[in-house]
Amino acid sequence: MAYYRINGGKRLEGAVTISGAKNAALAIIPAVILSGESCLLENLPEIEDVRIVEEILTSMGADISRTPDGSMRIDPSGISTFSVTGEMVSSMRASYYLLGALLGRYKKAEIALPGGCAIGQRPIDQHIKGMRALGADIVIQGGSVKARADRLRGAEIYLDVVSVGATINIMLAAVAAEGQTIIANAAKEPHVVDVANFLNMMGANVKGAGTDVIRIQGGRRLHGCTYAVIPDQIEAGTFMIAAAATRGDVVIHGCIPTHMEALTAKLLEMGVRVTENDDSIRVRPQGVQRAVNVKTQVYPGFPTDLQQPMTSLLCMANGVSTVSETIFERRFMHLDELRRMGAHIKLMDHSTILIEGVRELYGAPVTVTDLRAGAALIVAGLMAKGVTEIYETSYIDRGYEHLEDKLRSLGAKIERLTVD
Ligand code: EPZ
Repeated sequence: MAYYRINGGKRLEGAVTISGAKNAALAIIPAVILSGESCLLENLPEIEDVRIVEEILTSMGADISRTPDGSMRIDPSGISTFSVTGEMVSSMRASYYLLGALLGRYKKAEIALPGGCAIGQRPIDQHIKGMRALGADIVIQGGSVKARADRLRGAEIYLDVVSVGATINIMLAAVAAEGQTIIANAAKEPHVVDVANFLNMMGANVKGAGTDVIRIQGGRRLHGCTYAVIPDQIEAGTFMIAAAATRGDVVIHGCIPTHMEALTAKLLEMGVRVTENDDSIRVRPQGVQRAVNVKTQVYPGFPTDLQQPMTSLLCMANGVSTVSETIFERRFMHLDELRRMGAHIKLMDHSTILIEGVRELYGAPVTVTDLRAGAALIVAGLMAKGVTEIYETSYIDRGYEHLEDKLRSLGAKIERLTVD
């Protein structure tokens, strides 16, 4: 089993380039199925979740190859199965995008129900509501979602919850539905826009992505294309937080500053110096880092995926901060581990914590419970005095590409070791 060993207290300095967005890639790869033709996807991150979805599509009959620069060529024409169940599928939440893609292309699909996870129940009732509105018969049986449709017809769908996954999944099926589909109360995240742009590159007609009303004129014939995935806003944000946490001076290249506005505003409020350029952001220290209040919201609010690493940064801010997690019901699994490192954190209720800034965090053995908790513990290890050992790093491998290499290039003393 691999673990990270960090010798903390070193300032991060230098430049790092951001990889492609995990949460865009995990939707765009299955979306290739909709055209039935070969697509070339560029700037995909080399992370475990992308490897898993690639393996799932290959097992279904797609022909997938890599070009020398790492781009992924997918030919979905050989897909011969519409039932994807089993451990690999149920272990990766984003496999639910196969529902929209297979239903859109073949009018039938059987997908293993995605499980809940450390951060919450994570139901898919809004996905199912959307597919039914488009004319699909949906049955949940034996741990799978079974969907069939004679034909898909456009519909007006109002999401009861602003859901990234449901917005994207319904978009995938709607491009194959005759007539217009309207998704109201839609998610506006950058990766929702990226998926819409990819669908339009294949010949679809999706308008309004990035606003809370998306209109899809479905039934058009789709074709293959070449598409580059946007940079990962959560990876960029994680490096911005790590730079501030170590009072370092880091330039984050290949990001889209407008995607980072909520975090940038919070860091500026803390007294961190943040400078934006066209496709890069520089983070530098600037005196005392003040405590602030953070409340996670859907985009363009403060991203829930940055709440956990931000919590680590606030552990050494000057004063008392509050963090409210409004998106997921159990996204504080990292607090006990931070407390082991000397953090003073009080759980006010299931969604709000109080963080009293301390002068030092101290290295300790800690265990990761979910992807972004892993990011939080890496940030804390970089801040802490002494050695931190971080176990269960497989969670981190799911969403961060070559994380230890990138951190080492910025001067971090981090090693990836193995223990029986
Ligand atoms: C996506 O998850 C991301 N995952 C998550 O990133 C991210 O935290 C989340 O969006 C919010 O931005 C991927 O894109 C693969 P939601 P998703 O549907 O789509 C409730 C990471 O760290 N809900 O927007 O599952 C749900 O329980 C991961 O990269 C319903 O009630 O999130 C949650 O409370 C973690 N019914 C809220 O909506 C539904 O049908 C937002 O969930 C769907 C969701």
